[in-house]
Amino acid sequence: MSKDSFTLRYLARTAAGVPRDLVNTAVVSRLKPIRPTVLIYNCTWVCDARCEMCSNWKHGDRKSDMTLEQLEPAMNHPFWGAVENLNISGGEPTTRNDLPEMVELFARHLPRLRKIGINTTGLTPHRAIPMLTRIVKFCAEQDLLISMRVSLDGIGDIHNQVRHVKRGFEKACETIEAMQALSKQHASFQFGIAATIFATNMEDARNILAWARTRHLDIVFNMLRFTDNMLNNKELEATIGFKEREEAFMRQFFLERVQEESVLSGQAFMYLHYADMIANGYKRTMPCPFQSQGLLLNPDGSLFYCENSEKLGNVLEDAAEALYYKASNLAHREHVKNSICPTCLSPCQVNVGAMKQFVPYAKFLARAYQVKRDPSRHLETIPTT
Ligand SMILES: C[S@@+](CC[C@H](N)C(=O)[O-])C[C@H]1O[C@@H](n2cnc3c(N)ncnc32)[C@H](O)[C@@H]1O
Ligand code: SF4
Ligand code: SF4
Repeated sequence: MSKDSFTLRYLARTAAGVPRDLVNTAVVSRLKPIRPTVLIYNCTWVCDARCEMCSNWKHGDRKSDMTLEQLEPAMNHPFWGAVENLNISGGEPTTRNDLPEMVELFARHLPRLRKIGINTTGLTPHRAIPMLTRIVKFCAEQDLLISMRVSLDGIGDIHNQVRHVKRGFEKACETIEAMQALSKQHASFQFGIAATIFATNMEDARNILAWARTRHLDIVFNMLRFTDNMLNNKELEATIGFKEREEAFMRQFFLERVQEESVLSGQAFMYLHYADMIANGYKRTMPCPFQSQGLLLNPDGSLFYCENSEKLGNVLEDAAEALYYKASNLAHREHVKNSICPTCLSPCQVNVGAMKQFVPYAKFLARAYQVKRDPSRHLETIPTT
């Protein structure tokens, strides 16, 4: 389906929840904690690549992954009843044979679920294609929106270099072709690719963009970041973190994307804020739903408020609800808000937060139109916080 029509469907469903969301964001969440509406589940650290910018593959251990028999009781509780957006990531989700059953389990226990997102390497097409196809068909039957992205960090050999996989590009392309064809058959399925740009593949960024355009593939560029809860990669910051050259390139590159993206796409929102952060010494001005209504669940059952919080506990030992509302954990969330959020680069579900916060979103729209008209005046538009 076209990106615009998927976006419109998503906006329509988001809009359906807006009065409740506005009340939640503006009033309720300030008075008492609200239940999570966004959930990220890293279902395994097992991986079929060995990427240079992510160390999840070093932590792969199937024995410590929660089984579905362990996951089911943890999810079988009204506490989860407000989750609207679920992202299944890892590690490589398709290394789990039970991925389709996992999606079905979530659909059973998340009555307000609107959208599921899955990121994949696409590096094992013979496993991934049938599995992902089953998930797309299931979501279509259940009237759930599903979005999938295959990661592609270069065209040809550069992708293989970044991911340390032989013939990785060809294998990813096989999955991309199959998923793109499937997306034409299902209006509820949005498919695209995702690229993470850093020193190793920076020279190829425009090439990836051109390649995606000629194939009419939606593409998202991730901002390089370092987080142990999500990517196990804090150790890499000193060696592969952006230097001046990469910062200058990425700021320009993100501003170019704002110019050509539809401001309603959600991507423009993120790109403009990343360009802001590079220019303003990494002061975050983007909202984040994880500050008040998110959870991150890791393969062994460890639970976090977000990719940068401390561990709250383990859902195999304590109910998620008890961990989420525990006074000392809530105090920690306040601490994260004051100490880590101000410079955090996480994009996780930013679009969800953005559209629900009316005033910041309206301000963004005004700035985005200014930057679109004249990107050279970007610095003048950055809000002083
Ligand atoms: C951690 S992976 C998990 C799913 C799957 N293994 C994959 O690679 O698509 C999810 C996304 O994070 C991106 N990513 C990896 N390292 C990153 C980093 N240091 N900063 C930002 N994004 C990163 C990947 O490129 C991928 O698109
Ligand atoms: S980015 Fe994805 S494929 Fe690469 S190591 Fe991390 S989890 Fe594995
Ligand atoms: S630290 Fe980052 S991911 Fe966590 S709540 Fe703050 S902005 Fe969101």
